[in-house]
Amino acid sequence: MENKIQHSFKDYWYIACESKDLRTEQVISRKILDEWIVLFRDEAGKPSAFQDRCIHRNSQLSKGWVKDGKLQCSYHGWVFQGDGKLVNIPSEGKNQNKVGNRCAINYEAVEQEGFIFVRLQNNPENKTSPFKSPHFGNPNYQTVRLFNKFNNSVINCAENYIDVPHTVFVHDKIFRDALDEEINCIVHRKEGMVEIEYLGESDNLGWFSWFLNPRKVPIIHVDSYYAPNITSVKYIIDKKEFWITSQSIPISEYETWVWTDLTYNFGGKLLNFLARPIVGYQGQSVIDQDIVVLDNQSEVIQKYGENFSNATADVVHVLIESLYNAIKEGKDPKAIPEKRVEVKFWI
Ligand code: FES
Ligand SMILES: [Fe+2]
Repeated sequence: MENKIQHSFKDYWYIACESKDLRTEQVISRKILDEWIVLFRDEAGKPSAFQDRCIHRNSQLSKGWVKDGKLQCSYHGWVFQGDGKLVNIPSEGKNQNKVGNRCAINYEAVEQEGFIFVRLQNNPENKTSPFKSPHFGNPNYQTVRLFNKFNNSVINCAENYIDVPHTVFVHDKIFRDALDEEINCIVHRKEGMVEIEYLGESDNLGWFSWFLNPRKVPIIHVDSYYAPNITSVKYIIDKKEFWITSQSIPISEYETWVWTDLTYNFGGKLLNFLARPIVGYQGQSVIDQDIVVLDNQSEVIQKYGENFSNATADVVHVLIESLYNAIKEGKDPKAIPEKRVEVKFWI
């Protein structure tokens, strides 16, 4: 029988922290997929990530400290360098040949776009790379980066960020008005992602409309889900661009940490810069409303289990879940057949 490596959520890169959260000589602990992780920077400033468990007597390495880019355990002082190699056992004194070829359990860690990403497993059958946030770092755009904690699963969080029907109830007025408007979209599952393209969406952006779309031109609106944990929403409105990219990090089954990049180009560097506080405030207000509903949903699911009943618009969720569940079952989400559906609903 073919010896295939099972696909797993561990094959993907997850944000452990922002670059600025991990300073030289600092040690921080994180949890991802229920795995305890310790992070520090080596002598070259490169991030290192180990299992937060000393190989000696299993004390938490995160209780230790960093000196010259090496991590020292707080219990008996064993010292590990950035690649995980054990380099010193203080109780061996000058006789360090006992150190041998031992290593902390280490994970790959890379720094990109102001984040430190960690991958728990390098699956040769599933080559992945950290997600690149659209237009991040492009001087014509500004990015406001928000961080929030949700008490729900990654999949329920990700679904919420690209769920349109809830917006008129949960974000009433701030974001959208209920107009009983017909919405048409094409939902396309392909290569481990789901893309939802909204067709001929008219002006339904709540009180943003006067600024974002004064000439009432048709809006380009495309939502994307990249399995297992990323969503990106794109609006192009009368040459103004607004991207909302959310990376949901599975801390444990019902704990998700989310970094949201609000990246926009409203048509001028000064205008973009001046808009930062309002974009940040407005974005956080919308997320605060989502935190309330997602916490509520999670409480019910934790009591009664998950048992959903679908409307037409939920085809988006069904296709997203088909990719997420593929990984759960050890399969490759990119191998799930392509599917394209036209959907009509009202908001
Ligand atoms: S437990 Fe870490 S040095 Fe002993
Ligand atoms: Fe929402």
